[in-house]
Amino acid sequence: MFGACLMREPDLVAECINSMVNACKIPVTAKTRIGFDDTEEFDYLNNFILKMKGVGCSTFILHARKAILTGMSPKQNLNIPKLNYGMVYDIKKENPDLEIIINGGISKIDEIKNHLTLCDGVMIGRSIYQNPYSLVEIENEIFGTKERPTREEIAEKLLEYLEKEVKLGTKINHIMRHTVGLYHGQIGSKDWKRYLSDNMMARDSDFQKSKHIMTIVQNNEKANQVSS
Ligand SMILES: Cc1cc2nc3c(=O)[nH]c(=O)nc-3n(C[C@H](O)[C@H](O)[C@H](O)COP(=O)(O)O)c2cc1C
Repeated sequence: MFGACLMREPDLVAECINSMVNACKIPVTAKTRIGFDDTEEFDYLNNFILKMKGVGCSTFILHARKAILTGMSPKQNLNIPKLNYGMVYDIKKENPDLEIIINGGISKIDEIKNHLTLCDGVMIGRSIYQNPYSLVEIENEIFGTKERPTREEIAEKLLEYLEKEVKLGTKINHIMRHTVGLYHGQIGSKDWKRYLSDNMMARDSDFQKSKHIMTIVQNNEKANQVSS
């Protein structure tokens, strides 16, 4: 992703992408908004994308909402102005050889399926962050997997991963802060969040404390089973 204000300078962006393509062995992808300020035009976006294609980029993640560069915070600009999925579909139609991944305001399985009929992929941001367990449903419904790991099984794997990473020098909070939503919408969500914030969110959190995770998880599992 490049700063949204760079959409004003397609040549500079193409120059940057060109340098990255020449310096990397892996494919270089680009993520961009569909426009900025008063500019939300198919031709502008398409020419911008063609410039990047010209220097070797063939995968584009398009956040279907224009960037407002002044007078609005980046956070506000995640919800305003309105999404324009049609612009992304049109880009795919015009450039069937490019991989076009749509992003912005997508959370439900049906929405994902619909977008996949017109685009090559879907990127989901906030919804997964708030409710990471919804990835299980996405794995089942979109990728056709059969496994449905419980939160307890996920927490066990997470602990194994955490232990390995801590030995490599990774900070516990860098991993655990992204699991805050594990019990989203479930009994025990508050306990989980409190446990994390009391034990796992400090810069110098101690791995020994993570050993109590399974107690919280098992209590939550029991409470949710009783209520269902
Ligand atoms: C806390 C937060 C951090 C983000 N950081 C990045 C980032 O570093 N790079 C990026 O391309 N987009 C970033 N985004 C934008 C998301 O990738 C995505 O484009 C945006 O949230 C819209 O998708 P969504 O409606 O599925 O959340 C961030 C969004 C949020 C909420």
